[in-house]
Amino acid sequence: MIAVLPFYSTQVLEYTNFLYWSFAVVAAIILGLVIFFTYRYTTKYKAKSPTDQPQSGSVSHKFEVFALITASLITVFFMFFTVQSMKEIQTIPDDPKPDIIITGHQWWWEAEYPNSKVITSNEVHIPAGKKVLLALNSADVIHSWWVPELGRKIDMIPGMTNYMWMYAEKPGEYLGTCSEFCGMQHARMRIRVIADDEANFKKWQEEQLEPVITEGSALFEKGRNLFEQKTCTNCHAINGTSYNENIGPNLTHFASRKRFLGDFKEVNATNLRAWLHDPQKVKEGAKMPNFILSDQELNALVEYIIHLK
Ligand code: CUA
Repeated sequence: MIAVLPFYSTQVLEYTNFLYWSFAVVAAIILGLVIFFTYRYTTKYKAKSPTDQPQSGSVSHKFEVFALITASLITVFFMFFTVQSMKEIQTIPDDPKPDIIITGHQWWWEAEYPNSKVITSNEVHIPAGKKVLLALNSADVIHSWWVPELGRKIDMIPGMTNYMWMYAEKPGEYLGTCSEFCGMQHARMRIRVIADDEANFKKWQEEQLEPVITEGSALFEKGRNLFEQKTCTNCHAINGTSYNENIGPNLTHFASRKRFLGDFKEVNATNLRAWLHDPQKVKEGAKMPNFILSDQELNALVEYIIHLK
């Protein structure tokens, strides 16, 4: 029996899928039987007239024993495979070297790649066809990482690091969501994992490591100066500059991402401007302060940030 199961460890998902579908099929059969017998006996022994009294009958002792043994066997069967699959899914080396460190923040994700030193936010790139070890923790409250197509769900707990394997068989975009209530914008703490083939993943990492542009049009330069004057640098890091505070999302190559604010809004000048103009209006409760920027200041800051490709 064990031999037919997909124990092969890169196929963790097949394993969980196998368990899921076995549970679903057995549960559906039992549900069907319950509905069938409920219907059958409620019609068979229905009172024939208003004065008809219920008859006391006897239950087959053999049937009771049969039902008890069957239910116990089903329970033991599933318990065995559940424990096996938990072990299989959660085999973490004693000295784990994570490929990606993911930190949950209210309400966005930080992703750090210790091997390449890439730091990004919200859009997590992984190589397809390769098991990736994630280290997960939180900067504030409990969050929970869950991309159903790529593996298990796991809590992210402040002061503690949890590990899990993630595996995408094919390149593509995989969506998930924070799965532990973490405050006002919990529902807008979405996850987007982009699985690239090997060449594209390498290319993406190289692009992320390239220094950001520091010179541009007059408006761009005004925006860059404002970024410092308005103390954006107190929270946001941009690699390759002197801004290195990782309190808010790392903005290096911000404009190379498709979406921002925890995958809530598309990255474009209009959305960025609305966000900088009044963060609370866009995402109520967000930690980003309102800097009460004038129209000219907004234009300049947008011009700067939207060029961080
Ligand atoms: Cu983070 Cu819910």
